Amino acid sequence: MSITELGRTGAGPASDGGADLAVRAEGLVKTFGTHRAVDGIDLEVRPGEIFGVLGPNGAGKTTTLRMLATLLKIDAGRAEIFGVDVAANPHMIRQLVGVTGQYASVDEKLTARENLWLFSRLQGIAAPRARHIATELLGQFGLEDAADKPIAQYSGGMRRRLDLAASLITRPPLIFLDEPTTGLDPRTRGQMWDTIRSLVTDGCTVLLTTQYLDEADQLADRVAVIDRGRKVAEGTPDELKTAVGNSTLQVQLAEPADVPTAVEIVRRVLGSEPILSPEQGRLNVALDQADLAAEVLIGLRTAGVSISSVSVAKPSLDEVFLALTGHEADDEHEAGTEENR
Ligand SMILES: Nc1ncnc2c1ncn2[C@@H]1O[C@H](COP(=O)(O)OP(=O)(O)O)[C@@H](O)[C@H]1O
Ligand SMILES: [Mg+2]
Repeated sequence: MSITELGRTGAGPASDGGADLAVRAEGLVKTFGTHRAVDGIDLEVRPGEIFGVLGPNGAGKTTTLRMLATLLKIDAGRAEIFGVDVAANPHMIRQLVGVTGQYASVDEKLTARENLWLFSRLQGIAAPRARHIATELLGQFGLEDAADKPIAQYSGGMRRRLDLAASLITRPPLIFLDEPTTGLDPRTRGQMWDTIRSLVTDGCTVLLTTQYLDEADQLADRVAVIDRGRKVAEGTPDELKTAVGNSTLQVQLAEPADVPTAVEIVRRVLGSEPILSPEQGRLNVALDQADLAAEVLIGLRTAGVSISSVSVAKPSLDEVFLALTGHEADDEHEAGTEENR
């Protein structure tokens, strides 16, 4: 099985209809001038999951979301949201999808409560209900204390939460979050992650984009890695890491004096050299396959070497990205990146 096939469970061919999926996109293309910003992307997002679209700046993440949200015309390919064709039924799609960022023009002089009330009214919601919704959302997003302050006094994290709150006024079943934590400090970022997780607990499906590998790792049930308008891999964060390869077995020996014996055993079992770590009695062993860890441990036990702790570390998503794309997630797209491959 190739990496791209990972994480797909017999969803079947397109002719099955996409009603069982939150998002089904096939061969999406967007061209700006001569530049194919999105160059044939397929996506399948299942109801109730957090799906991460991971890619560096300029990869085509926002363009993909905007096409799915009917904010940009789809040049080629097709997309369905809960079985509804995006190009054919834009009005229905807008009721199914909550998009953040579209309330960027909030009135700075109004308070958060007034903004939410106003947006509710603009969506045709009656005044008493709009008041109720505003209060509920302010509570859900931890904005009660600042609810009656003008937005102008809000921090970046508070604005981001208000923006998300505004996109939930109509309780859409699917939420698009375009880089929800870019530019936030680590603590605010953690709060935003909790908020996003709580959306799913409430029954929403979340499609988010990120350029942060740790964010995809922490939040997403499944991830599509995109680079230069194309999907280069897909799977759970664990599947991506496993597919890319080398795990490391870390062993802490009870007796540092046993190190030479342990080294001997690793050589015999794997035919490779362990890496001695500066901590006393600690060995790191690179594994081609994670299950070779057991062979090493059995060897140590048979030789009477006692072990105080063991772990198998998978590679980080940073290493995964490098392996899949041939470049670091954060390097710029300069001409000549080919040289780095
Ligand atoms: N409206 C536009 N006109 C021309 N080029 C665009 C436009 N929007 C995006 N692009 C280009 O398309 C590519 C993908 O952009 P984008 O989808 O914003 O990437 P990402 O969100 O992954 O950073 C980039 O090269 C960007 O410069
Ligand atoms: Mg973007």
